[in-house]
Amino acid sequence: MQDGFAMTHVFHRDLTAALPVITGAEGNYLIDSNGTRYLDACGGAAVSCLGHDHAKVREAIKVQVDKLAFAHTGSFTNQPAEDLADFLIAAAPTGTGEGRVMYLGSGSEAMEAALKLARQYHLERGETARAKVIARKPSYHGNTLGALATGGHAGRRAPFDPLLMDVSHIDAAYAYRLQHSGESEEDFALRMANLLQAEIERLGPETVMAFVAEPVVGASLGTQPAPKGYFRRIREICDTYGVLYIADEVMCGMGRTGTSAGTGRYRCRYHDDGQGAWCGLSADCRRDGRRKGGQCHRRWQRQALERPHLHEPRHRHRRRTGRTACDPG
Ligand SMILES: Cc1ncc(COP(=O)(O)O)c(C=O)c1O
Repeated sequence: MQDGFAMTHVFHRDLTAALPVITGAEGNYLIDSNGTRYLDACGGAAVSCLGHDHAKVREAIKVQVDKLAFAHTGSFTNQPAEDLADFLIAAAPTGTGEGRVMYLGSGSEAMEAALKLARQYHLERGETARAKVIARKPSYHGNTLGALATGGHAGRRAPFDPLLMDVSHIDAAYAYRLQHSGESEEDFALRMANLLQAEIERLGPETVMAFVAEPVVGASLGTQPAPKGYFRRIREICDTYGVLYIADEVMCGMGRTGTSAGTGRYRCRYHDDGQGAWCGLSADCRRDGRRKGGQCHRRWQRQALERPHLHEPRHRHRRRTGRTACDPG
């Protein structure tokens, strides 16, 4: 420790803390260099939901590392990526099953991709004025600039406010604070969902690109599910105005609520003809603790087949669709 700073060159969250060095893990436990065991009760905010040091996951990674580290996604595919995409599409909520999967390295990247794909979707349909995003407060959608702007988390936004794009925030359906006494759950759900309609009307329906919400609010409201009927009404409003619904399931998807998607568990099914993106993460499969982002943009494939002039997604990263990440999935 020197001048209140810990002796390290790593840019830790806390610059003064001398952190224990983790040297191993077993199931729910992390083990430090002194042999102290820590019960990892939250899995690093729902990251390591398969537990640590999972033998099957470790083995799958080893097999792929022995074959190949990287092949450029512009020219090649690989079987683990194809297999995992088939699995994720089969597990997608009702009405999202005809999509494709984009693999990304974090929830923030998945959100950036969803926003840009939504913009491209409207552009290619000729609805070029659609660029505005409506989200909710409180909410959290990540820390990159687009995701941070979309989130309604005042404290995290504050230092960067001048850098953030303009996003409308309607109140999240937070019963503890906002439900009136004597108001039924259904009436509360309807009143809160109708805030979206009012905001679309205020902005001008032809300018609104997407509505973003967490089916179960994670970091900013501590696992808050939606009241009964809320997302059904949201779906109706989005369909009426041609607005895409982006379900951010980074925190609640992939089995965390008991089904593959939080969307399905909490009464917010898509209609078969609805449009939107399911933005979730698979259960953590990588020993290095990084998450895989899965972003299924439904209807993209069908649109591309029907309208051959449609372009491929313009949101690109070099290091994605890696077989060492996909095979353990
Ligand atoms: C709902 C939600 N979306 C997006 C993110 C951002 O994910 P990441 O930290 O992997 O960028 C988080 C992170 O906690 C989240 O809870």
